Amino acid sequence: MEIIEKAIKTHVLDKGEIVSLLNLEDASLLYEAADRVRRESVGDGVHLRGLIEISTVCKRNCLYCGLRRDNKKIFRRRMSCSEIINHAQAAARAGYATVVLQGGEEDGFGADNMAEVIKEIKRLGLAVTLSLGEKSFEEYSLYRQAGADRYLLRIETTDKALYERLDPDMSFENRVRCLKDLGRLGYEVGSGFMVGLPGQSVESIADDILFLKALPVHMAGIGPFIANPDTPLANCGKDNFDLSLKAMAVIRLVMPYINIPATTAMETLRPQGRFTALKSGANVIMPNVGGDMSEYYQLYPGKARAGEVIKYRLDLEEKLKAVGRHIAEGSGISKAYLAEDKK
Ligand code: 5AD
Ligand code: SF4
Repeated sequence: MEIIEKAIKTHVLDKGEIVSLLNLEDASLLYEAADRVRRESVGDGVHLRGLIEISTVCKRNCLYCGLRRDNKKIFRRRMSCSEIINHAQAAARAGYATVVLQGGEEDGFGADNMAEVIKEIKRLGLAVTLSLGEKSFEEYSLYRQAGADRYLLRIETTDKALYERLDPDMSFENRVRCLKDLGRLGYEVGSGFMVGLPGQSVESIADDILFLKALPVHMAGIGPFIANPDTPLANCGKDNFDLSLKAMAVIRLVMPYINIPATTAMETLRPQGRFTALKSGANVIMPNVGGDMSEYYQLYPGKARAGEVIKYRLDLEEKLKAVGRHIAEGSGISKAYLAEDKK
């Protein structure tokens, strides 16, 4: 297919071309191309990031998310600082080189305490990724100085009207401001979006992809929207797996050197969803290493969970070997980031 050939050669596609790829009935050539570009650009190594969900408390009210503040059905809990550090130590012992501290958007830890946690984890020799939502430039800067390497903040959708409808009290401009601040502070920046939000068009997904390329991001996480029964979008369920996979594959074609996770939401929708994603452009997996907390951290129903940390890692190693992949050595800095010479 001509568009795919062009993308493999130039890594440039316009909106119309992206829309035609997203509309493909049979996308097998797209997946094969993304797999090839992934192999040639970032290799067969799969980077593991140990995910620690540090808090289910959230001050926001995003219509799609189970952690929204109006959801009274979920158990709210914030880990103590020492709990977070213990999980990070366990992850380090199990061979992880990066931990991701993810939580609802809240201020309950206190920025100075969080900075101390980051410093402690850095002493373990781990790379630290934060995913704690929108903060001021000063707070991002504090965490960066404490040693945080990466920050994940999805744009969710670049359709401003849709964004502001789904995320009440939040402003699209502020979200973009956050992403720019993170870039300016020298973070490796991860962003991404959901696919299949009610009211989201294929054209808008094409805009999302072009937005990530323009920013640019060093990591892009694309997840299917999964309706959560305890949210106002309970009845908006449809199967967004294929469209998400296509969006992810297109991103690999236009941003060959970035890191792309096989997202948990993909694994939730298909038994082998993560492996399907790894064969269609992805090169990162984020297993949960945060213990029981994942019981409560229900963004959407049925969220896939990792078992015991070391066993899970060994199992994964075997499964990756069977499909010609391996766990990558090192902390897995994005090649796109290194190319910017910010180290
Ligand atoms: N379905 C899929 N992904 C979701 N997220 C939140 N709620 C849902 C849902 N119902 C995603 C958002 C957020 C990330 C942490 O989880 O993209 O940024
Ligand atoms: Fe809170 Fe993030 Fe969920 Fe929105 S998506 S309700 S900010 S945890």
